[in-house]
Amino acid sequence: MLTTALPRLDERIQRLESRLVREHDGVPPSLVHEWVARAHARFGDARVRDFVPLLVERAVRLSVRSFVSSDVPEMCGTWLSDWARNTARRLLADELPRRWAHTAGVARRAQQVARVLPVEERELLVAAAWVHDIGYAAELVDTGLHSLDGARYLQRAGLDRRVCGLVAHHSGASAVAELTGQAAGLAEFGDERGRLRDALWYADMTTSPDGHPTTVEERLAEIRRRRGPEDPVVRALAINVEERLAAVRRIHRLLRRTYATR
Ligand SMILES: [Fe+2]
Repeated sequence: MLTTALPRLDERIQRLESRLVREHDGVPPSLVHEWVARAHARFGDARVRDFVPLLVERAVRLSVRSFVSSDVPEMCGTWLSDWARNTARRLLADELPRRWAHTAGVARRAQQVARVLPVEERELLVAAAWVHDIGYAAELVDTGLHSLDGARYLQRAGLDRRVCGLVAHHSGASAVAELTGQAAGLAEFGDERGRLRDALWYADMTTSPDGHPTTVEERLAEIRRRRGPEDPVVRALAINVEERLAAVRRIHRLLRRTYATR
């Protein structure tokens, strides 16, 4: 009897989505995810089930092409973002190459999502993305809370106050500070709420440790796996996971709207 070893359709679609996310580094993964879900819903009833992934792939590639060709002005390097990139490279590239790869991926993602921000905030986002993890560099480690150590370094360097605050509080750092007794230190820096902050969290939460695009769900699962249950960052997820997801969702909605109006 002929037995089929083909994976179930849902698995094939999931694999297809992962491949499309990997292939299209220039497109936010949350949009790819949405396009896959939409096409799957549209073609899921196709008479020949084997064709469904093919139809989904073709529809998603059309959306990708349209997104990539939309006329987003390229952001030129300016003093602030150049300084941030060079500083991150100096502190991370040799000592922590994986962290540097992640950083470059976050900065790429920040450039892609900057379109949802007013022009004057785009460079702040890209600069913050470059320096958001510099606090991991041995030269900067002081309290051990990387976001705080990074922000203090930037403050000493005289960097824009908003960039310092964004770095200090990125991706749920406040909850980690609460758990590690460093809330007072972190409170030295303002925690602005709004799109700029959301966009940095989005870029960080949709970039893997190696700098590849990922979904927020995969990223959270990876953080739990890599750090283990006792790590303060993982324990803090009990407090801030909803806040992280909400920030990603808000930026996703803005991206979708921005894209839809083009
Ligand atoms: Fe990061």
